[in-house]
Amino acid sequence: MTTGTTSIATPVVTAGTADYRDAGLVFPESFVFGSATASYQIEGAFDEDGRGPSIWDTFSHTPGKIWNGDTGDVASGHYHRLEQDLDLMVTLGLQAYRFSIAWSRIQPTGRGPANRAGLDFYGRVIDGLLARGIRPIVTLYHWDLPQALEDEGGWTNRATAYAFADYAANLGREFGDRVHTWTTLNEPWCSAYLGYGSGSHAPGRTDGAEALTAVHHLNLAHGLAILALKPLVTNDPDFSITLNLHVLRGDGETGPEAVRQIDALANRVFLGPLLTGAYPADVFEDTKDVTDWAFILPGDTEIIHQPLDVLGVNYYSTTLVRLWDGTAPRQNADGHKDVGASPWPGADRVEFLPQPGPYTEMGWNIEPAGLEELLVALHEEYPEQPLMVTENGAAFADTVVQTDAGPRVHDVERTDYLRRHFTAAHRAMARGVDLRGYQVWSLMDNFEWGYGYSKRFGIIHVDYASLERTLKDSAHWYAALVATRTLPL
Ligand code: NOJ
Repeated sequence: MTTGTTSIATPVVTAGTADYRDAGLVFPESFVFGSATASYQIEGAFDEDGRGPSIWDTFSHTPGKIWNGDTGDVASGHYHRLEQDLDLMVTLGLQAYRFSIAWSRIQPTGRGPANRAGLDFYGRVIDGLLARGIRPIVTLYHWDLPQALEDEGGWTNRATAYAFADYAANLGREFGDRVHTWTTLNEPWCSAYLGYGSGSHAPGRTDGAEALTAVHHLNLAHGLAILALKPLVTNDPDFSITLNLHVLRGDGETGPEAVRQIDALANRVFLGPLLTGAYPADVFEDTKDVTDWAFILPGDTEIIHQPLDVLGVNYYSTTLVRLWDGTAPRQNADGHKDVGASPWPGADRVEFLPQPGPYTEMGWNIEPAGLEELLVALHEEYPEQPLMVTENGAAFADTVVQTDAGPRVHDVERTDYLRRHFTAAHRAMARGVDLRGYQVWSLMDNFEWGYGYSKRFGIIHVDYASLERTLKDSAHWYAALVATRTLPL
């Protein structure tokens, strides 16, 4: 154990085991328990009150892109159920709520004057949270780019980064006195590589050079947005970004080289400029046949390198890789095998291997040790950097059962998943990690991108016909955790 851990109880599980189920642990008073959502996934009301179309409206309305032809037109109906949902957060005892703002509700075409109705909606969210004693953790961009900006090149166009800073300034002017945490981007890896590389996410483009261009412009947008917000905020908020860092395991002799390549593309291409002000040299070398990176202009890395009060970490699973030797059909167990294009420009020889179970309904292997490992690795590399788990959770097939006490969802697997990952986070804290809090994904069932409504991540069940909400057993479990700050033995 290292410094700053005196208030953290020592885990009672045997050191080195990956089974966390028997731990009994107390979280410190400063640790912030919350839950997370994103605008396109829950709001619906896609054409109301002046909201302009986003790339996800276009993509989800394109036949063949989303499971079952689902769209976010109605989603979880949150836009019209705000008060009820805020009250549910009180029922759970949440200390924080992480949500995102739909850029095209604020600026329907991504530029120009702010739309008053859009600002007012998020004003009601923020004020409703504050009135209930819940901290607003605001994400500015959770993938729903205004379509008009995509029509001008989207994230391959440098101008989008400057438009993003202007959007941030609009939010800073309106909410600069009362947002607790400003998170610029959610998982820019997905925006760049799935949006422009594999094409499995909006806008559905499949060009490796474009994906890498998008990486840089997203990084730049992050820095420009913080610079735009800083003079407009008056309440000393935290500035943040959320990354989906890949926890990589290498298989066999070529494992380490495969890990290096994916670590560069998935992790260090973001962590480098964000936390040290420089891109890793091996990214340039690995991708030299894809792009010359001439889109990085002098001064860009200084703009990107803004102090982060907290780094957001989304964690679900781990990834096993090696180099493909060409003898057997190439494996691709990273979830992108159906789309034809690879999301990994310059890493054409990397093979993604299936891992041992158990698995969630997404097919992702459940490995809580990966979370502990990730948090400790970040802490060791960036010892001064506070961290927050901004997403963790699991999709399982849920059923509502009628009981004498009313409708219930007995989601034993999700509860177990959460308990084991909270324990992993606690173990990381006991090893010295400055972990500020944990946002469970997700507050409610919602539109799971390409999977539509077929995957349920919520701790609150949503009936998509009636939009009725039912607390799952995992929500009751979480409410007890938040109330006691203790994972029971
Ligand atoms: C990460 C994304 O931020 C979120 O939108 C998504 O629903 C979850 N992972 C689960 O896939």
